Formats: sequence, structure tokens, C-alpha cells
Amino acid sequence: MPSARGDGLKVRIRRAAIERRVRSVAGRITRDFKGERVHLIGVLKGACFFLADLAREINLETSIDFIAVASYGKKKDSSGQVRMLKDLDNNVAGLNVILVEDILDTGLTANYLLRILRQRRPKTLSVAALLDKPSRRLKPVKGDYIGFTIPDEFVVGYGLDYAERYRNLKDVCVLQPPPR
Ligand code: IMP
Repeated sequence: MPSARGDGLKVRIRRAAIERRVRSVAGRITRDFKGERVHLIGVLKGACFFLADLAREINLETSIDFIAVASYGKKKDSSGQVRMLKDLDNNVAGLNVILVEDILDTGLTANYLLRILRQRRPKTLSVAALLDKPSRRLKPVKGDYIGFTIPDEFVVGYGLDYAERYRNLKDVCVLQPPPR
């Protein structure tokens, strides 16, 4: 069973707290879209565990799709570029789209994706993110459904990686020393 034990990992958010919070966020989505269908769009790969758990706690007709992006350029300035690696499989026109992210960090990814999605005429467009690091924001993005707001720490687990490692940890952990 994946655990946070091992050098350099400190548990920041335990799996039980994540489960409780995901249920509560899903409850809010269920209430906000009562009687309607929601279409969750997961940003690969980090959001896949969050999306899978969130979708199963939403008590509405729910469909899912995935999109993949890559960032390049200097992440420290707001001209950092994002480009699409995998587009959606399905049209989102007329749907209640919820963009599902692992973490809102600089906001560059969400900003780019929201711009693209808006052009495709969804009925509504909102953002769900497991984690939010508002102190790192370079582009203004507001999460509508946020799991946890965290300080500027590099975290891994529950989908989040460092060099493709640690995604399968059940807890969200801080990597020490930080990678940057
Ligand atoms: P952005 O800076 O808001 O565009 O975030 C881009 C992506 O960077 C996120 O979707 C994550 O995959 C990744 N990221 C940002 N902060 C962290 C972190 O603390 N740990 C792991 N990945 C992160």
C-alpha cells in the first residue's frame, strides 16, 4: 500500500481529510446544479484521482472527459506558455462544464483552458481544484470549488507528482527539501 513513509516526505493532508472534503465539495456541486447534468473535464494527469473520487460523490447525471496540457517557458513570469497535448473527445456546447484541476498554482494552466473552453460555448463554466496556492498566482483565476488552500509548498500525492513520482500516495505530502 503506498504510504508517505520514506525520506523527504511529510504528510500535509491525510487521506481521511481528503475524503471528507471531496464529499463536501461534491455536495456543493450537487446542490448548485440540482436537476441538471454536469460535465467534468479533468486536466491530465494530476487531476485523475480527484476527478474519479469527486465524480462518484456527485449525485447528478455526470459525464467526464480529459484534456492534457504542457507548460513551457519561464514559469516564474506570466508570459509562461501552455500548449495542448490532448484535446477533449466531446463537444461541450450547452453543458455545465466543471474544469477539474489538481492544484491552482500560477493560474496559467487554468487561465489558458478557461479561455479555450469559453470559446466552445458551454452553458456554464466553473473550476474545481483539490488544492489552491493563491500566493503563487500570476494570472487571476478563481476556483469555484476548492478543496484546501495551502501555503507555497511543493506537494505530491493524490495525483500530484514530482518527476512522475508519488502520484499514487493516498495522502498529500510536502516534499522536503523542495525541488526548486
Ligand atoms: P499552474 O501553475 O497553475 O499553471 O499549475 C500547473 C500545474 O503545475 C498543476 O496542474 C500541477 O500539475 C503542477 N503543480 C503546481 N504546483 C505543484 C505542486 O506543489 N506539486 C506538484 N505539482 C504542482
